[in-house]
Amino acid sequence: MLKSVILAAGKGTRMKSETPKVLHTIFDKTLVGYVIDAVNGTGMADENFVIVGHQAERVEEYIKENYNNAKTVLQSPQLGTGHAVSMVLPQLKDFDGEVIILCGDTPLITSETLKEFVEYHKENKSDLTVMSAIFDNPTNYGRIIRGTDGRVEGIVEEKDATPAQKEVKEINAGIYCLDWKKVKPAFSELKTNNAQGEYYLTDIIKWGNENSLRVNAYILKNNEEIYGINSKANLAEATKFLNRRIINKHLTNGVTIIDPDTTWISPETEIEPDTVIYPSTYIEGKNIIGKNCKIGPFAHLRGGVTIEDDVKIGNFVEVKKAYIKSHTNACHLTYIGDAEIGSNVNIGAGTITANYNPLTKEKSKTIIEDNVKIGSNSVLVAPVKVEEGTNVGALSVITKDLPAWALAITRAPLRVIEGWVKKQLEK
Ligand code: UD1
Ligand code: CA
Repeated sequence: MLKSVILAAGKGTRMKSETPKVLHTIFDKTLVGYVIDAVNGTGMADENFVIVGHQAERVEEYIKENYNNAKTVLQSPQLGTGHAVSMVLPQLKDFDGEVIILCGDTPLITSETLKEFVEYHKENKSDLTVMSAIFDNPTNYGRIIRGTDGRVEGIVEEKDATPAQKEVKEINAGIYCLDWKKVKPAFSELKTNNAQGEYYLTDIIKWGNENSLRVNAYILKNNEEIYGINSKANLAEATKFLNRRIINKHLTNGVTIIDPDTTWISPETEIEPDTVIYPSTYIEGKNIIGKNCKIGPFAHLRGGVTIEDDVKIGNFVEVKKAYIKSHTNACHLTYIGDAEIGSNVNIGAGTITANYNPLTKEKSKTIIEDNVKIGSNSVLVAPVKVEEGTNVGALSVITKDLPAWALAITRAPLRVIEGWVKKQLEK
């Protein structure tokens, strides 16, 4: 089993936010959360160390609450990426195995790539492997410097590079795999004699060569995977990349998505084949959607939603924490929250499950059994249950449980006063 070290102590100034950079989210999951999940997804790591510094307490608290195989290690002050990794020396004093190092702000890295990377490291009997990528515009990245024989000799940072080195298009992706026992001594020998006066992690490459270690570079296939987040613009772009990846997966699985550009689907949503997602639909959180459903246009699923087969969720329908059985329709302008809805139910336009009591701040459940018809513009004031087969008349406010096969209606009776307008005009 290997260990991972995830660097997350930096400031993230360009995010212009009070939230630490790695706690920014894409579809409700933090950036550092994506990285830890990618490492855990390889099935190769048993322990993750997250290096924290700026707003350390908030990141520590988050990690503690969400990841039981991750520990935070404080780096204060932050003297560079090499210094950051050296913080785990006490924890890994006697460890004998591989350590992978990653950054907490590259959420698009996948488990598959990390697995391939580690396998590459092992197959090449490498002591030190760095992940590289070929960029048309390599500006700001460290450059991989290879000898005439193609061997990786070192990494030079943009700020330290000569004009010739700046021409190099192979960049350091910032992910490393180390034979820990062999590379560990490097961290005590790093120097700060560079343009930024920092302890550069990248200097371990040169150190490895000087100490007769086997050094290699694994070239990344899909550059998108190391897209780094430094600004809100990067965050928006990464969300798009991830969304496109998710949508392609659903398309491959047989889901019809009419307009991938305006459809947003969270990573934790499962959708069965032959369901159609119409444009401008936004799906957040964890959801399960059955087959032959129609979702949208302009639908909003907010998480905790399970939808069986042949269900229609139409325009301007918002659904949160709800179980909806097969052949049920909610086609227009509706809010369904904290609800259990049977099959063959029709939810009329403008129906609201009033689940929230602002005085107690409590949420309550609405239960609607099979074959119920809810008339348009009705409000179901939860907690409330409508038993099987009952019809609710349009514009009703339902404040207590309804028995099966009944008609419930609360609106004032219709009055028709004949000739009323004419009479007014004559006055
Ligand atoms: C680093 C690499 C560069 C590579 C690039 C890839 C070095 C010296 N350079 O540059 O070759 O192309 O990543 O993105 O490593 N951090 C700490 N503690 C510190 C300093 C940084 O935890 O003291 C963390 C940051 O929060 C960040 C990561 O390390 O997550 C990378 O640091 P950053 O300053 O962004 O390095 P780059 O200049 O981008
Ligand atoms: Ca960076």
